[in-house]
Amino acid sequence: MNADAMNIFKFLRKKHTSALAVPPLEKRPRHIAFIMDGNGRWAQKRSLPRSAGHAAGTEALREIIKACDEFKIEVMSIYAFSTENWNRPQEEVSALMKLITKYFVSEIDELHEKGVKIKILGELEKFPEEQRLALEKAMEKTKDNKGLKLNIALNYGGRAEIVRAAKAISGKCVSGEMDVDKIDYDALSNEMYTSGDPDVDLLIRTSGDKRLSNFLLWQTWYAEIIFNPVFWPDYNRAELIKDLNEYAARDRRFGRVKTK
Ligand code: IPE
Ligand code: IPE
Ligand code: MG
Repeated sequence: MNADAMNIFKFLRKKHTSALAVPPLEKRPRHIAFIMDGNGRWAQKRSLPRSAGHAAGTEALREIIKACDEFKIEVMSIYAFSTENWNRPQEEVSALMKLITKYFVSEIDELHEKGVKIKILGELEKFPEEQRLALEKAMEKTKDNKGLKLNIALNYGGRAEIVRAAKAISGKCVSGEMDVDKIDYDALSNEMYTSGDPDVDLLIRTSGDKRLSNFLLWQTWYAEIIFNPVFWPDYNRAELIKDLNEYAARDRRFGRVKTK
């Protein structure tokens, strides 16, 4: 993707400012998870190749990371590539791989300056060496940062993550390091890639599709869910502020009776 093409995508993305205010800090989610969906359909609507949608999607991502940092969100988890996405045409898979690496190589200094801490959720072994090294470098460079925690789900599957945690716990029980009676929610949470992060408070899926597609199945147990019909490349700061206001107006009961 050359620089001219990138500028055209920037231009094509929806821009609008929000008349709404960002809710007060105590009404904001600590952890937001994004299923960044609709890149392909965004491109198809403009008679562009699907890869153009993914490229435009990186612009949306840049804007949303900046906004989450500014709004003091503690954790932002993004679904970048699922275990099921390997089943896409080879061309699209390799275009996505290249784009993901290029994005992190070009953004890493700015993210590091902002104090963003990058963590990868998923198994990187399956990735081409160049991609894997770039991602590992990004994690290593930002590991002591204290700002926004940015979790990037790559080759990630929620079921695979739960199986992995079950195996780790079974291993500890077999070796005698852990007692079976000590297995509880916290023990499982500690074996997830997101160990140490609060559970997801708000899950936002763009594009209008209404499903979880194997994302953070354990961590979203009591998450509020917003299905925003906007395609991901058109998702922006104004849409996020709108979604944050919807979240702030929800009554989170956790099984109890009404609180408002
Ligand atoms: C989401 O957009 C991005 C990734 C899966 C990486 P899609 O590529 O799924 O776009 P649609 O859903 O086909 O429009
Ligand atoms: C989920 O989107 C994965 C990512 C956004 C990376 P998909 O577009 O792959 O999900 P399904 O297959 O339509 O549910
Ligand atoms: Mg999709």
